Amino acid sequence: MLSEWLTYLTADCSVFARESGYLRECIGIRARYRRCKNAWLSHLENSRSALLESINSCRSYRTALVLGSGVLLDIPIAELAARFESVWLVDLVHLPEVRRAVRRYANVRCIEHDVTGFREQRAALSEGGLDLPDPVQFLDEASIDWVASVNLLSQLPLLPQDWLRGNFPAIDEQQLEAWGDRIMQQHLDYLAAFGVPVCLLTDYEQTSYRRSGEMLSVVDFSTRLRFAGVLLKTWRWDVAPPGEISGGTGRFHLVASIAII
Ligand SMILES: C[S@@+](CC[C@H](N)C(=O)[O-])C[C@H]1O[C@@H](n2cnc3c(N)ncnc32)[C@H](O)[C@@H]1O
Repeated sequence: MLSEWLTYLTADCSVFARESGYLRECIGIRARYRRCKNAWLSHLENSRSALLESINSCRSYRTALVLGSGVLLDIPIAELAARFESVWLVDLVHLPEVRRAVRRYANVRCIEHDVTGFREQRAALSEGGLDLPDPVQFLDEASIDWVASVNLLSQLPLLPQDWLRGNFPAIDEQQLEAWGDRIMQQHLDYLAAFGVPVCLLTDYEQTSYRRSGEMLSVVDFSTRLRFAGVLLKTWRWDVAPPGEISGGTGRFHLVASIAII
């Protein structure tokens, strides 16, 4: 708890990332990882292997662009730094330990950026005008030879939706869900627009269950990924073993590795 509080105080991130909850979430992921290390092991190994497998499709190895780099749990940073001339890690939050860890690689940069464009656009949003422009950042960077979107897609709408709920109470849940779907589709289109090998790692089904094993709910959003690319592998991520979340319930996600191009 103390270490979380200290990180919160010392993190070098934007006011937006603090006020909108991104810093809190990022610290929360790190804390949950520390509590659930064993349960997360196979997911993290599968994620890192999928990324390493994907870089074999590159024709050249100038810049690797990693979207949703977070706490680098699922990123094989040493291997990427050794293989590419440059590695750009993109997230709204780079915790102090991440900034320290990448200092040992002269060719790795942390870039603070909102891949949805919500941060830049939110002041202009209104109940009748919620659309965000298609993201274009980095698309004109000719040196990018590989892109990864790492366990990020399903997270993209969540905090922006909370902000919309708070600021536009007249918007109903159905509209918010459709808005979230559009943000995720824009991200998928954005990835495809790079025209280089892209590795998309994303969850596509979330299951809650009781300690007894009884299923409580299954949310399947795999249809969202239907045209995204070629499905390479799927696995289970025990994101919250029983006891980790309230009521003694547990939650696991199914995760896919998808090659775009
Ligand atoms: C589930 S975590 C991914 C795990 C991460 N790869 C790791 O190893 O820690 C999702 C990450 O996406 C980032 N994120 C969420 N929305 C974002 C956005 N709009 N732009 C950039 N990063 C975002 C979060 O800050 C978080 O670090």
